[in-house]
Amino acid sequence: MSLKAVRGRLLSFRDDPYVAGEAESHDYWADGLLVLEDGKIKQIGEAAALLPGLPQDLPIDDYREHLVMAGFIDPHIHYSQSQVIASYGAQLLDWLENYAFVEEQKFADPAHGARMAAFFLDECLRNGTTTAAVYCTVHAVSVEAFFEASHARNMRMIAGKLLMDRGAPAGLLDSAQSGYDQSSALIAAWQGRGRQHYAVTPRFAVTSSAAQLEAAGALLGEHREVYLQTHLSENEREAEAVGRLFPEHETYTAVYDHFGLLGPHSLFGHCIHLDDGERARLSHSGSVAVFCPTSNMFIGSGLFDRRRARDERFPLRTALATDVGGGTSYSMLRTAGEAYKVLQLQGQNLAPLQAFYDITLGNARALDLDRHIGALKAGGEADLVVLDAHATPAMAHRMETVEGDLAQELFVLMTLGDDRAVRATYVAGERLHKGAQTS
Ligand code: GUN
Ligand code: ZN
Repeated sequence: MSLKAVRGRLLSFRDDPYVAGEAESHDYWADGLLVLEDGKIKQIGEAAALLPGLPQDLPIDDYREHLVMAGFIDPHIHYSQSQVIASYGAQLLDWLENYAFVEEQKFADPAHGARMAAFFLDECLRNGTTTAAVYCTVHAVSVEAFFEASHARNMRMIAGKLLMDRGAPAGLLDSAQSGYDQSSALIAAWQGRGRQHYAVTPRFAVTSSAAQLEAAGALLGEHREVYLQTHLSENEREAEAVGRLFPEHETYTAVYDHFGLLGPHSLFGHCIHLDDGERARLSHSGSVAVFCPTSNMFIGSGLFDRRRARDERFPLRTALATDVGGGTSYSMLRTAGEAYKVLQLQGQNLAPLQAFYDITLGNARALDLDRHIGALKAGGEADLVVLDAHATPAMAHRMETVEGDLAQELFVLMTLGDDRAVRATYVAGERLHKGAQTS
């Protein structure tokens, strides 16, 4: 790729505002320039300082009015549920049975998977999301379809085949052995190919036997570089079912712990109804609790307690995600806005700089990918989102009162913004999405 540049108001995080303080957490260039080469950021700085040293004919994408940030990262989403999103009237176990399990059976057909993967990745890009941790279905062909499409777009993605050997329709079941064999083959084919990563993906303890969870643990032991993703303690009836299915274990978390599934590359969706003992195990193992606000409200699961997740006795690594199709929006802006409301309901806060840290560098750290993505820095990968805080009449109207205040602008974006606020999305230096020009 030849040299090119992106000009705009650059915002990038260096650290967690909660830890470092807001002032120290980020860098901001009011008229900044990113010089891109071979999919990476070659230089970053003020445009006036960099331009004199660059070729006169350097192609520059000029977004001088707009914010340019690292692409958003969604650490929990089901590509198989793009036609499940917005399904009415059920809590988790019924929602799975009545909606998710019905749609997921269609992924036995590779052509269906290919069509869904293309839609899904394009929708991510329209929303400024450049990396995600993705649940496919139980069908190995659904994973092939996903990785083929993701690799073709050169997106950095984590994905895996669901492991489920009980508690679902026959068309969605594998076995401990076949799930292990197919996962092994998929790891061999895709882990580390281009920008693709594999996640061993037991759906949750309700749909996996002890033998299958043991196989998942074996896969992790054999492949240190892969991830583990699953659901944990989202809904009270789910937790009761796990208690009945695994009576020998004291808690839901203890089930996963017993099979060696906890650790710094392990992503646990939801983590709402946990006791202190479970929090301590998750904390000590370095596991990640993934907060999915739109899903938790839509399915009626409960409120993620971030203050408790920060309890100094057993602090949890956390991430913020959509969980489409339980979640109701692909937009990480909307997701941040709804996270704010979930925390408000508990007397907690989500400051705008914290929220934008969470959906960029925070999520990159949670996925252990911050050496590649999540920030604008020389040597980092050029995955970018360009944001327009004037994208809708209501946003432009509100912005009249926000004079040069970055935090307020970010708050308008996360409260009123969505895909309409995404002016462009770049993947490894290539602009793969161009939004409507609204201002
Ligand atoms: N728990 C097990 N499977 C699922 C799923 O597909 N979505 C959600 N939200 N929770 C789950
Ligand atoms: Zn989920």
